Amino acid sequence: MARKKVKRWEDHRITGIGRREARTAFYKDSQKKISLNGEWDFKYVDAPELSPEGFEQSGACEGWDKIDVPSVWQLRGYDKMHYTDVLYPFPVNPPHVPDENPTGIYKKTVVLDEQWMEKDTVLKFHGVDSAFDVWVNGKHVGFGKVSRLPSEFDITGFVKTGENDITVRVYKWSDGTYLEDQDMWWLSGIYRDVELINEEKNAVLDLRVNGTLDDSYKNGFFTAGITMKQAGTNLGWKLSYKGKTVLEGELVSEGKDICIEAEIPEVHTWTAETPELYEFTVMTENQEVTVRCGFRKIEIKDKNFRVNNQVILLNGVNHHDYNPREGRRVTREQMESDIRLMKQYNINAVRCSHYPANEYFYDLCDEYGLYVINEADLECHGFEWVENYTWITDDETWKDAYVDRSVRMVKRDRNHPSIIMWSMGNESAFGCNFRSAAEAIRELDDTRLVHYEGDFEAEVTDVYSTMYTRLKGLKEIAEYQIKGDKPHVMCEYGHAMGNGPGGLKAYQDMYRKYKRLQGGFLWEWYDHGIYTEEKDKKYYKYGGNYGDFPTNGNFCIDGILMPDRTPSPGMEEYKQIIAPVEITAVEGSMNKLQIRNYYDFLNLDTTTLYWEVKAEDQTIQDGTVEGLSVAPHEGKIIALPITAFELQENTDYYLNLTVCQKEERNYAPAGYEIKKVQIPMQIRKDGFSVRETADKLQVTEGQGGLTVENSRVTAKFSTVFGKLISFGKDGKEYLTEGPRMNVYRATIDNDMYKKEDWMNKYFIQKPVEETEYVSCLKEDDKVIVRIGTFFSCYNQSWGFECDYTYTVYSCGQMKVEIQGKAVQRGKLEPAFLPRIGVIMKGNKNFQKTMWYGMGPGESYVDSKAASIMGIYENTVDGMMTDYVFPQENGHHEQVKWFRIGDGKDGLLCKMEEKLGLNLANYTDESLEKAQHPFEIEKADDVIIHLDYRQSGLGSNSCGEEQLEENKVKLQDFAMAFTVQAAECGTEIRKARKQYID
Ligand code: GAL
Ligand code: MG
Repeated sequence: MARKKVKRWEDHRITGIGRREARTAFYKDSQKKISLNGEWDFKYVDAPELSPEGFEQSGACEGWDKIDVPSVWQLRGYDKMHYTDVLYPFPVNPPHVPDENPTGIYKKTVVLDEQWMEKDTVLKFHGVDSAFDVWVNGKHVGFGKVSRLPSEFDITGFVKTGENDITVRVYKWSDGTYLEDQDMWWLSGIYRDVELINEEKNAVLDLRVNGTLDDSYKNGFFTAGITMKQAGTNLGWKLSYKGKTVLEGELVSEGKDICIEAEIPEVHTWTAETPELYEFTVMTENQEVTVRCGFRKIEIKDKNFRVNNQVILLNGVNHHDYNPREGRRVTREQMESDIRLMKQYNINAVRCSHYPANEYFYDLCDEYGLYVINEADLECHGFEWVENYTWITDDETWKDAYVDRSVRMVKRDRNHPSIIMWSMGNESAFGCNFRSAAEAIRELDDTRLVHYEGDFEAEVTDVYSTMYTRLKGLKEIAEYQIKGDKPHVMCEYGHAMGNGPGGLKAYQDMYRKYKRLQGGFLWEWYDHGIYTEEKDKKYYKYGGNYGDFPTNGNFCIDGILMPDRTPSPGMEEYKQIIAPVEITAVEGSMNKLQIRNYYDFLNLDTTTLYWEVKAEDQTIQDGTVEGLSVAPHEGKIIALPITAFELQENTDYYLNLTVCQKEERNYAPAGYEIKKVQIPMQIRKDGFSVRETADKLQVTEGQGGLTVENSRVTAKFSTVFGKLISFGKDGKEYLTEGPRMNVYRATIDNDMYKKEDWMNKYFIQKPVEETEYVSCLKEDDKVIVRIGTFFSCYNQSWGFECDYTYTVYSCGQMKVEIQGKAVQRGKLEPAFLPRIGVIMKGNKNFQKTMWYGMGPGESYVDSKAASIMGIYENTVDGMMTDYVFPQENGHHEQVKWFRIGDGKDGLLCKMEEKLGLNLANYTDESLEKAQHPFEIEKADDVIIHLDYRQSGLGSNSCGEEQLEENKVKLQDFAMAFTVQAAECGTEIRKARKQYID
């Protein structure tokens, strides 16, 4: 005997009451509709049982609040915000949920006229989280479940002419919640559209179309299934392409189900690169409905999945419904701009993680061209953490609940050509209920592939799917060493939390190299921050910021798109890595290029190649290559008509290339850039000058200090602390502190598992530099100050012996040479360090920046595909990337010189060998401390980081670490640079001078 009675919203055997069979979402429908979006009366109670007496009766809403529909009530001031990744915020006691079960009662009056009443009335909810009861005019109509799928109710027998009262009672927790444990905010309410449909008595209820191809992949084979509400209806149908009728017919339905089949020679085929759509329309005397159809064939052939006989590569992203102000409520405009952005960023696939999106989303995928993994609204991840992962997944009594989620998804979405795989859910272990779901899917639709990452043995799936697989494991898969020979997809990888992901290229190279690997989906599209305005502060909240506990904090801030829709540097990187074209230099040639086409269907003659020979900041020659004909998956060598030119002294030359789309597409104008490439030209003409001489340098020593000075320069050193303490001229300080060694960076999310060791065992944020010696040598025209130090951190036996050589020239320049020798006098040392470099401080008024190095955006050693060498200008603040959760940012690789200045005066710093550069108005300590951007304390100086090397980013917050070669080990190093005053505007000329020492 069960101790506890099962309440309706806890009964997992019920998949709905009075709910209609799921069906397609028509692309067009002539039937009248009334949108019920807008203001509703609203009553919030702590448990369903606390609903006011007679709440379902009309007029019972006196004194209630108002709420707008669609919305989530947590963002309208009710209940509380809570974010967890895996944990259920209640005991795992299925199917029971807490008695304290936040409940929202919604009420709306709708007036129906006589004409409306001649037909039937269908009430459609596009999405309600998590379960709900419906009453019309006081009578119970039904009960719905599955938050991310529609529920329709035929309420014809409940409505009347005139005013009608609709009451919806929504439960935050239900047995369904056990299956909706996705990594996201817990949000409730009527969060998708609600509408009334005035349905014909003989309406077209459902349409199923399928466009496939014959063995030549040229001719189409079309099938349509029509389900009528009544038998014996006269109807006409047509299939059209761009407004022109291709096929048509007329018939009288004998039964309720009708089937049409037809062949279409030379059909326009659908692929994500060529999203050709046909329209199938069914007309009765009083209704016209349309769905769209794409002709394409998905099949597994020779161990690969193919679209239209071509082995495709998925360059995808995981997409959640999210809006920074509205939670899970998204508008059509937002969906469209998401899809356009994906296309603009070379993304060709999207996984609806981990639930079906709004109906409209798939229309957009069809139209713009994206391959979709559509995923059922199913995840019971919390069971893993009680070590009984298969508890409900392998419990037959939950079968209907599982199968229902897949079946309703398939029935709603099967007409969309963009969908190539049905995913049965996410992170829910494996068991009998998935076997049943796979079977049910195949019964309904055998034209697509079945996916589910949790089927670890790929027992019932068509593809073998894994997530965050490390490169080593991926290679085993790639070489068919494990798990049979089904094609592989990585449904999640490249965790984009905070700064990163780095190392994407290594994955893309694998996908491109190995037959079995057919690409992957980056985790994920959005940072799920919640927009917050408090007095003058504007920022984004994440888990824990609402006092929610337990929480996974900023683990929801893991997208390539910032909450305000700014593409992050990680997104720029991804765009370049997955770009459908690759260009490399042919060795030994100045103008020959190897071009590879990574499109699966398009020829590169759809693009234009622009080339430009650049002398750092000036264009010397340029041109265009039109109609570059390279077939998909093929390569070609081309030669650019570069002509001989005269070399300028001390100047680097680059061949900059951009590949742009030739014609306008629905997501971008003609000329839109797809890929940029830079090829350094190995040509250079060196020229050396002799430094000017000026008045003699004076050296004064005493009281722990040493000053070297003339009319051009003042350099002050502390002989006690062994460092430069000031550099400038005419009484103005340009540098307020000289180089101090540093191995630390403000922790990035991707180093979350390193942080504890780094900061609490090796104390890398607690450096000490002890002076070993100071010497000063005066020569004719220069003074050489040598300082030896020992660098280490609290209680460490590892460190560096550093030798600093400062050569102050009478012309005003100061050369700094630093040599570090790694030492270890004990045993323990960090496996690797965030960086090896120095910190200097600059005049805080020097806010204008210019540099010659990688840019324009930030770059790291394992994330620099979107950057090229050039001369860039910005401001110190402008060089910062505002990550929702503050962390190391704004680094630039391979900097040859930089200048900071106030518009007039400036400090020029020129490297002997390229170094990494960060310029910031805050220290690493304040960056580390801050939880939100507005909390970052400003520094009193411009903080200058020059890195001998900085470690890569990796994506180890959930995935691969930095590659070995991108980890900075305890190692010897040397760096050298020259600082000098340079008026703004003179820096490029001055930087180009090379001197004989
Ligand atoms: C995966 C999961 C995603 C998300 C990600 C971490 O395990 O499928 O939903 O939680 O990890 O951000
Ligand atoms: Mg999960």
